[in-house]
Amino acid sequence: MCISEKANLDFGSLPFSYQKTDINVRYTWRDGKWDDGIETDSETLPLHIAATCTHYGQAAFEGMKVYETKDGRFLGFRMAENAKRMQHSASLLLMQAPPTELFTQAVHRVVKANKRFIPPYGSGASLYVRPLLIGTGARIGVRPADEYMFLVLVTPVGPYFKQGFSPTRLIIEETMDRAAPQGVGTAKAGGNYAAGMRGTVHARDKGYGEALYLDAKEHKYIEELGAANFFGITKDKAYVTPKSPTILRSITNMSLRVLAADLGYKVEERVVLTDELHEFVETGACGTAAVITPIESITFRGKEIVYLKDGKPGPHCTELYNGLTSIQCGDVPDKYGWTERIEG
Ligand code: PLP
Ligand code: COI
Repeated sequence: MCISEKANLDFGSLPFSYQKTDINVRYTWRDGKWDDGIETDSETLPLHIAATCTHYGQAAFEGMKVYETKDGRFLGFRMAENAKRMQHSASLLLMQAPPTELFTQAVHRVVKANKRFIPPYGSGASLYVRPLLIGTGARIGVRPADEYMFLVLVTPVGPYFKQGFSPTRLIIEETMDRAAPQGVGTAKAGGNYAAGMRGTVHARDKGYGEALYLDAKEHKYIEELGAANFFGITKDKAYVTPKSPTILRSITNMSLRVLAADLGYKVEERVVLTDELHEFVETGACGTAAVITPIESITFRGKEIVYLKDGKPGPHCTELYNGLTSIQCGDVPDKYGWTERIEG
């Protein structure tokens, strides 16, 4: 197949949703070891009715994006960090995790098998990679499974929030929490997203893009969004992002802290009081799916704190967005060594 042969899709107007591709890959952990995995075009799973993922939530996932560069190469971003985070999630949910080498091999394998779905350079879309780890062994008593499946699917996606790099409105609902202190908020556990659906759906029903959560213990500190981390920029150019034992350690945020420092921002990872929301000149959501989504306003206790009045991203979010995406798409040399070439 020649490199320019693409699936017949309107890549420029893709939503962030599932789209069937050619192949997914599946590995099984049984009798103490991982097998060599299979490639399949099946979109369904043969699952035991008592599998621990179904009843007891032994399920964790990851999310990454692959971009095509101007000269037709395919680039992944910091994939070993996702492997490590899946291992962290697995350790909290008492699951067997794929070692980093198996994780990255699986990603290369599935991306290569679906290269015709990698959106073309400049389309604004990317190939979303979704690794999933589930307990497949049967249990009725509450205890860890004795068998696991590690699956990786890919699907071409457009922006997570409507209209892409354009501002979205958030609401803080104090009646709903995302993750408990000493719970599993740092895991990318499926259950954390089930717990967050009420908040997201309520927010969307009221016309907001997403919910912003406070810490569950004191309701005093900003935590994160349902599907992204949070940052604020102060008037004296500090990049401030919440430090909390209950949020997901975003790889995008980790990268932005480095980029921001290089761009002359003071970087502060610390507790962020709700009172500080009034002091930021810009705020943003960051994550693989969200990339950087500028926040137009945050509604808290009936008042809307407005950051962007003209519906356009501010200069700080724009600078950080351009800095990050130009590395991810291979437009500038990657001096950090974050990108990884996936052979097509
Ligand atoms: N926080 C939550 C709850 C998320 O679901 C995500 C998405 O992955 C993030 C933060 C951002 O993490 P990352 O930048 O690693 O994608
Ligand atoms: C990601 O950004 O990869 C996520 O996992 C967010 C998501 C739940 C859509």
